[in-house]
Amino acid sequence: MNPFLDLLLFLATLLYSYLEAFVKLFVPVKRKSVSGELVLITGAGHGVGRATAVEFARRQSRLVLWDINKHGVEDTAAECERLGATVQAFVVDCSKREEIYSAAEKVKKEIGDVSILVNNAGVITTADLLSTQDHQIERMFEVNILAHMWTTRAFLPAMMNNNHGHIVTVASAAGHFVTSFMVAYWLGKILEIEEVVEALMEGILTNQKMVFVPSHLSIALLSEMLFPERALVVLKKLTNAKFDAVIGQRSTQ
Ligand SMILES: NC(=O)c1ccc[n+]([C@@H]2O[C@H](COP(=O)([O-])OP(=O)(O)OC[C@H]3O[C@@H](n4cnc5c(N)ncnc54)[C@H](O)[C@@H]3O)[C@@H](O)[C@H]2O)c1
Repeated sequence: MNPFLDLLLFLATLLYSYLEAFVKLFVPVKRKSVSGELVLITGAGHGVGRATAVEFARRQSRLVLWDINKHGVEDTAAECERLGATVQAFVVDCSKREEIYSAAEKVKKEIGDVSILVNNAGVITTADLLSTQDHQIERMFEVNILAHMWTTRAFLPAMMNNNHGHIVTVASAAGHFVTSFMVAYWLGKILEIEEVVEALMEGILTNQKMVFVPSHLSIALLSEMLFPERALVVLKKLTNAKFDAVIGQRSTQ
């Protein structure tokens, strides 16, 4: 390819995208229907996963719910059924690849092709590196990261065959920011579940690529890339970021 033509193509695409985004500011946002979609949510037994399941149930989706916690996932299923949804609940430990693959096979064989996959299950440990146990670090990677690969590998082929599908990753913004004691995961201010799920559903229904909660975190991300380290340290002190952490085996705030 001609480098000049490549550059021209890039600039034309950039200009077109900015113009399109500008025009869209004045056009009412379209929300897609998720009625009848087969939605699989991991970590559906509590918190964000449970509230997301309820939102899909309200929108007449069919649900497959996974969680390591039997009572939690069954409670969520019962709540969704009360809203009229068809629900199948499974006890699945998302830290185990083989368990994910065998549960996924069961879903595909007995229920059908998942069209919306919400990778939400997550575990946290807030401590400095030396106080965090090796197995805690491994588990965070297994549940918060590797499980997403296994579920996606299991359900993406059918989505591609059907040319229809949506994969959602629920994760901490801590993955973008560097803050003390965020060694394996940074907990930060606990967000209100309703606030998170409202933004999550809006992002899904309007096909947004990335949603930050709270939304001003996207500006913080920009500052992380632009500001010098010393200025960032002062900024973090000013914004008074606090979290419970175990430091040197002592609990502190
Ligand atoms: N709540 C927040 O402030 C916040 C902030 C940033 C990111 N997040 C992310 O949102 C997601 C949900 O968080 P939450 O606050 O609802 O957490 P939560 O602890 O309330 O719920 C997590 C659910 O995942 C399940 N789970 C844990 N390990 C599992 C495993 N191995 N297999 C299957 N299920 C498992 C738990 O049983 C629980 O039902 C997580 O991925 C978390 O990282 C939450």
